Amino acid sequence: MSEKIKAPRGTFDALPGAQPARRRIEDTARAVLERAGYGRIETPAFEETELFTRGVGEATEVVQKQMFTFTDQGGRSLTLRPEGTASVCRAYIEHGMHKLPQPVKLWYTGPFFRHERPQAGRFRQFTQVGAEAIGSDSPLVDAELIVLAWELVSELGVEGVELRLGSLGSVEARAAYLEELRSYLHGHEQQLAKEVRERIELNPLRAFDSADEGTQAVMAGAPRLLDRLEGPDAENFAAVRALLDKAGVPYEVDPTMVRGLDYYARTVFELHCEGLGAQSQVGGGGRYDGLISQLGGPATPAAGWALGVERIALALGELAPGAAVSVFIVAAEDSREAALALAIELRRAGIAADLDLASRSAKGQMKQADRSGAERTVILGDGEAQLRDMRSGEQRTVPVETLAEELTAS
Ligand code: HAM
Repeated sequence: MSEKIKAPRGTFDALPGAQPARRRIEDTARAVLERAGYGRIETPAFEETELFTRGVGEATEVVQKQMFTFTDQGGRSLTLRPEGTASVCRAYIEHGMHKLPQPVKLWYTGPFFRHERPQAGRFRQFTQVGAEAIGSDSPLVDAELIVLAWELVSELGVEGVELRLGSLGSVEARAAYLEELRSYLHGHEQQLAKEVRERIELNPLRAFDSADEGTQAVMAGAPRLLDRLEGPDAENFAAVRALLDKAGVPYEVDPTMVRGLDYYARTVFELHCEGLGAQSQVGGGGRYDGLISQLGGPATPAAGWALGVERIALALGELAPGAAVSVFIVAAEDSREAALALAIELRRAGIAADLDLASRSAKGQMKQADRSGAERTVILGDGEAQLRDMRSGEQRTVPVETLAEELTAS
């Protein structure tokens, strides 16, 4: 026998049993977002590599370590998309969407790819549902987006979700703050972990995320961006908070929130679900006013978020209903063809029906009927039919001629 081929490390097959939860997440996202005026957008699974190096940022871990990048037959460098925001902005620019009434509100779902160390809730191919509102700097947009993310997880019934809110200030304020943080870190270099020390110039904010004790002690006294917010940045953050208060959405201010992507300015937020352990972040997003111009478009403010479908499915656990047919047909040897004909007729009438297709014994078929989760079982044979209610166990004889009619009527 030849050796078995397995799915690549960190990827998974979503088998039929996983589909009801996945479908419910996508359907609920569509319902919540489309009733708020978001239109669906689909973009390619791969893009020019430069879109992400420029958009997501050279200094980020996503770009430095996690991209699946390859050269195509024409010698172009392409990358499997690690996230959706850069692609949506590319499409906004490419299709001249700045000419449409602003903001343009878009949502998406699909596969994303990051070469991360696989663990529970962290995959190399995963699914996101995302929303982006492009073309307005109003705090109303930030608030609307955050409320929608909150309503989506609430409507799905995800329990124990916590909303963390922060602000990174404007691009200029952030640059000034980063200089201040860098010189603070240089002043305490001896106490910092090696990997933090090495990233002072490239990405000093990451120091807030370090698990190293010495680093944590230094960071407890570090200047915090949220305390440096001034003028319009401070007003903007206060406005977003007031709008969330008014909408009755509870949140916690996180003064040291670090997002893994470089394009954020002003509002940032994350949704965490504590029950999930290390990979507790079920979603995240924020404002990214500089991204469209960085990608060659006109200066355009924008904000958005994305939620991880697999993490939400994990958080929902057994809450997700299993797939079940409503009728299972058990057939005696001479009635197998009649069973298939009945299944076809029922399916045409919109009833989910299944039957044995592997020549099982009557006993084996009854077991299969049990396992299928069907509400009713039809037992065909000898020119008559028995109809059994699987919950009550009640069974009665029904004339074969009126069987389909009876099943479709009730
Ligand atoms: P992100 O925080 O990098 O943001 O990813 C959003 C969500 O995708 C995470 O909260 C997590 O639930 C899920 N996720 C990320 N990586 C993995 C993985 N390896 N395995 C499983 N799930 C994962 C973004 O991607 C931004 N584009 C969000 C955004 C939209 N910001 C503005 N607009």
